[in-house]
Amino acid sequence: TTAEKQLKEKLLQQMKEQDAILVSHYYVDDDLQDLAEESGGKVADSLEMARYAYEHKASTIIVAGVKFMAETSKILSPNKRVLLLDSEAECSLDIGCPIDEFSAFCDEHPDRTVVVYANTSAEVKARADWVVTSSIALEICTYLRDRGEKIIWGPDRFLGSYIQKETGADMIMWQGSCIVHEEFKAEALLSMKQAHPDAAVLVHPESPMSVVDLADVVGSTSKILNASRELPNKKFIVATEDGIFHKMKEYSPDKEFIAAPTAGSGATCESCAQCPWMKMNDLQRLERVLDTGHNEIVIDEEVRAKAERSLKRMVDFAN
Ligand code: 13P
Ligand code: SF4
Repeated sequence: TTAEKQLKEKLLQQMKEQDAILVSHYYVDDDLQDLAEESGGKVADSLEMARYAYEHKASTIIVAGVKFMAETSKILSPNKRVLLLDSEAECSLDIGCPIDEFSAFCDEHPDRTVVVYANTSAEVKARADWVVTSSIALEICTYLRDRGEKIIWGPDRFLGSYIQKETGADMIMWQGSCIVHEEFKAEALLSMKQAHPDAAVLVHPESPMSVVDLADVVGSTSKILNASRELPNKKFIVATEDGIFHKMKEYSPDKEFIAAPTAGSGATCESCAQCPWMKMNDLQRLERVLDTGHNEIVIDEEVRAKAERSLKRMVDFAN
């Protein structure tokens, strides 16, 4: 609509005036993904979001995603102003891994290297030796295994189990999960696969192992998206949050994308594979944040500096 177009133009203008870019995750609203690119920012997986914001010269980074993503940017770029569209945009993995309990768990196993998923608080990152995202977890855990290190993994138990299976690394695990991906159902997916034998199955590793076992490609949002572009298949069954379909359809308008089932009945559930926190991001919140400067990320300097060490290890490893 014209009103929406005018709003987007206003937001782009404001970002320009404030030397700001919008960096977006694939799971947020389509309009925000488009606006991120128009602002000079990027739509990306969680590792690329962090690296992009870190390397970009803009002095303000606005994050369309969830809290841990904005905190990650702030940890890496303490001199930038980092804003989150909704301060309530959480993640079940972060919520399910409180620092005191996690730290006590680590204290019980002082001989182990602590590897945490990026979907955690700044405090948990500060307690860790390494931070990883889904796109680099396998490589880093393989590296640690080869060095003979034993691992404490947290918080996603499904991603942890997948890595353990792939690498054979010695890992003990915190029992967290993503409330979105844990809902995918293997039996129903198998029926769907049989109904569409020509489809490639793409799965995010936060899904249960039984679902991961049925995948043709397992990986981060970026990896899944790339597979949808590069594989010769014309049809894909996709087990991740449904925001990903925006870019998949943009890159491959002639291909068919089917949401993997989240209900045991075999019926696809249009609204199940949606992250309630990712869906808090919208144009109205962006407008409010630009008008008011609210939701700026502030992290205690001691915590930040410690978290930076474990995050930088990942960034350096990736380079
Ligand atoms: P990616 O790192 O694959 O983007 O996944 C992060 C995530 O779980 C966002 O919800
Ligand atoms: Fe967290 Fe899952 Fe939402 Fe990602 S999709 S932010 S892992 S709850």
